Amino acid sequence: EKGGFSSFMEKEINDQPDAVAQTLLGRSDLNGKLTLDEVRIDPELLKQVDKIIVLACGTAAYAGLVAKYAIENWCRIPTEVELAHEFRYRDPIVDSNTLVVSISQSGETMDTLMAVRYAREQGAKTISICNTNGSTIPRESDAVLYTHAGPEIAVASTKAFLAQITAAYLLGLYLAQLRGNIFSGQIKDVLADLNKIPAKIQKILDNAGPLRELARSMKDEKSVLFLGRHVGYPVALEGALKLKEIAYIHAEGFAAGELKHGPIALIDDGQPVFVVVPSPRGRDSLHAKVVSNIQEVRARGARTLVIAEEGDESVKDYAEHVFYVPETPTLLMPLLTTVPLQIFAAELAGAKGYDVDQPRNLAKSVTVE
Ligand code: M6R
Repeated sequence: EKGGFSSFMEKEINDQPDAVAQTLLGRSDLNGKLTLDEVRIDPELLKQVDKIIVLACGTAAYAGLVAKYAIENWCRIPTEVELAHEFRYRDPIVDSNTLVVSISQSGETMDTLMAVRYAREQGAKTISICNTNGSTIPRESDAVLYTHAGPEIAVASTKAFLAQITAAYLLGLYLAQLRGNIFSGQIKDVLADLNKIPAKIQKILDNAGPLRELARSMKDEKSVLFLGRHVGYPVALEGALKLKEIAYIHAEGFAAGELKHGPIALIDDGQPVFVVVPSPRGRDSLHAKVVSNIQEVRARGARTLVIAEEGDESVKDYAEHVFYVPETPTLLMPLLTTVPLQIFAAELAGAKGYDVDQPRNLAKSVTVE
């Protein structure tokens, strides 16, 4: 059932072009008009939403962070992302104009379920982004948008993550459309860019040889850092989580702008640092800032491992290795830049001889609080 791959995780990483394509399939008509699977919320009420809270745990919460950038950009609705277990216990401010978006692969994560229940009791509208048909969280939510990643077996989430991000983009576009924040032409353009993503992921998978070689050479590392800005920040967090989970290597993801506020003190000779670089075609300042972060860590002896967009020559002088991903608008980049980091973690953990599908101390679905 592993389809010839060494692990379910490797198979699922390779399933990602399909996971994204399936999640996009049938969700919009030729005019870019979008639909959700099940909506038990009056669209008029959705128009009145004045705050969105995204609730999730682990990798799903990182998908939530990406969602925040997209939703705020397209819908101009203030959007918070909170770990479900933190939300539940702090007497959060929620009312009937709050839309709670939960994200869960399993649909059974107890922390997330309890947070959704609580939000509903407070009168919030709830939408579930979920990969498991008929599971508890979507059943207890007012609306559902299923991610069609297919069953995910490996404990470390990969294809579900990309599918969650894809679904979050669709939800952002849906809300923007409903509220008239966005021109239908713009929705069509984003959908066209999204539809090109699966082939671009495939290209990354097909050209991963040098990245795998690097991963094998790094199996004795004690610590790896990951930096990103904007949507690259959650990607950095996810890259670090993958390495912790399956390779048991200390790894931390930082917002690159935080470096000088503390983490740069960690940089020493030979410290490996992955840097997720935004598109140079996006907002200039964003790209330039990340390039200068690469220079800062490089100057202090770091081994800089850079994920950048094809054609971006500006990073070459400061990078020990550059791994290029195909061009796409900055907001959509996590669907591409995450993939090299997943491959890196899986290859490295495999080189250490670990069971990448069943990492120690972890369960696929965390059904206790
Ligand atoms: O099933 P869920 O998406 O609700 O699970 C949430 C987290 O437990 C999950 O993403 C976890 O962090 C994974 N092991 C990440 O690889």
